[in-house]
Amino acid sequence: MSEELRVDAHGAVEVWTIDGEARRNSISQAMLAQFEALVDGASAKRLRAVVLTGAGDKAFCAGADLKERAGMAEPEVRGFLDKLRQTLRDIERSNTIFIAALNGAAFGGGTELALACDLRIAAPGAELGLTEVKLGIIPGGGGTVRLARLIGPGRAKDLILTGRKVKSAEALALGVVNRIAPEGALLGEALAWANEIADNAPIAVAAAKAAINEGFDLPLDDALACEQRHYAKTLPTKDRLEGLAAFREKRKPVYRGE
Ligand code: COA
Repeated sequence: MSEELRVDAHGAVEVWTIDGEARRNSISQAMLAQFEALVDGASAKRLRAVVLTGAGDKAFCAGADLKERAGMAEPEVRGFLDKLRQTLRDIERSNTIFIAALNGAAFGGGTELALACDLRIAAPGAELGLTEVKLGIIPGGGGTVRLARLIGPGRAKDLILTGRKVKSAEALALGVVNRIAPEGALLGEALAWANEIADNAPIAVAAAKAAINEGFDLPLDDALACEQRHYAKTLPTKDRLEGLAAFREKRKPVYRGE
């Protein structure tokens, strides 16, 4: 099997690079299969964070592989979309934190990939867009749902109904991306961000992610109960005691995920 994604390990943080520059890192069936397997394996490997990026400086991911798509029958397209939706959902349910490092264009499924990640950092020249209506379809990998939840339905409709592309500065102003990296520093900044998160207690970080993701669209009292449930997971941990001991002893805590 040819490698569609390159994996570089930095301790408990990995950089996954979509390695299809000639087709602008678009999502082929083979790429999706490997991506799904990597996402599935992230928790078992106890990965703390993944930085997801694309090869080269032109594209993070140009969406679905449109050349491959042209030769796919309708049931195959449905199967592809089911797998994409499931994999993006698995990212959200994972204990691992996913950071999209947008090194270039992210259109259609490329933007949807970034939206399913926990955090987004863009190179100054990056561009995003849910451009599907221009192709006679709508976002099929959760784009209408996740963009509206991230930046509100009014701003999401502006972007999705026009299909227009936004450069990183506007994406930052809209709240689509969290940060813009200085020129040439994207990967370094993304890794530093990942390591800052990975320094914190594993069970606490995973519980905080789950509390935000699960509580976000619940009624207030249900959301607060959800937070309480996730807080309770941290109470019996050794890491909680280690955090208190490190504070008392004025040293950096050493967390073991226990
Ligand atoms: N699927 C398959 N191949 C793609 C692709 C995609 N989504 N996007 C680009 N490519 C291919 C091009 O066909 C071209 O192949 P060729 O060399 O065989 O002709 C190659 O990648 C380079 O594309 P090009 O457009 O010349 O590169 P660029 O750097 O000038 O622009 C993009 C990059 C991503 C801005 C541009 O390719 C683009 O807009 N792609 C379409 C994105 C899209 O509409 N996605 C789907 C949304 S639903």
